[in-house]
Amino acid sequence: MKRSEINTILRHSDAFIRSFGHILPPFAYWSPREMQARRGEIEGIVSARLGWDITDYGQGDFARLGLFLFTTRNGRAADLARGGGMCYAEKIMISRENQLSPMHRHIVKAEDIINRGGATLAIEMFSSDAAGALDPTAPVVVASDGVTKGLPAGGILRLAPGESVTLMPGNWHAFWGEGGDVLIGEVSTVNDDRTDNIFREPIGRFADIEEDEDPLHLLVSDYDTWIP
Ligand SMILES: [Fe+2]
Repeated sequence: MKRSEINTILRHSDAFIRSFGHILPPFAYWSPREMQARRGEIEGIVSARLGWDITDYGQGDFARLGLFLFTTRNGRAADLARGGGMCYAEKIMISRENQLSPMHRHIVKAEDIINRGGATLAIEMFSSDAAGALDPTAPVVVASDGVTKGLPAGGILRLAPGESVTLMPGNWHAFWGEGGDVLIGEVSTVNDDRTDNIFREPIGRFADIEEDEDPLHLLVSDYDTWIP
């Protein structure tokens, strides 16, 4: 993706989020220079990889295959290992109309995916076989706002604003906005997106960036080079 395209998506996404009365934390609006100047006090942001995350899954066609995310909080893997403490994470995301987040599952993370407003959120689901691979025939059972829902393999759960689903690590899922763009909340287990996403197709999790203008704000995938 070109940096100019990412900057445009940042501006559009911030306006879309604000249109629902949801406001990002102050560090969202710091410039790259300000992030660098404050590096000494933001280890909590850098190590938890909080912030902007725009991906086209390395495929170069954001409108068709992509996702906007902003990680607002993310706990400590060490706390999860010891069984107490900051074991949670939260993201806000946007799926545009018919913009696919491709079929994947997680190794560690359970996640509640919440329609926070806008259009319908469509989620296609499969179960895992004993080896963790996508099972093309097994039915899927999930909880949607505490209500048990059964779906056939590849069934599509549609969430209206206010509705959510709890996805456990074995639940394969792909999702997109249906009938318009959707603001999506995610409340989950502490999460490392560099290692916890298993995609059905060989695909990247982060965008390859062509620097054609200065970044408006850093993405989490910029932290290693900009604020190491
Ligand atoms: Fe997921």
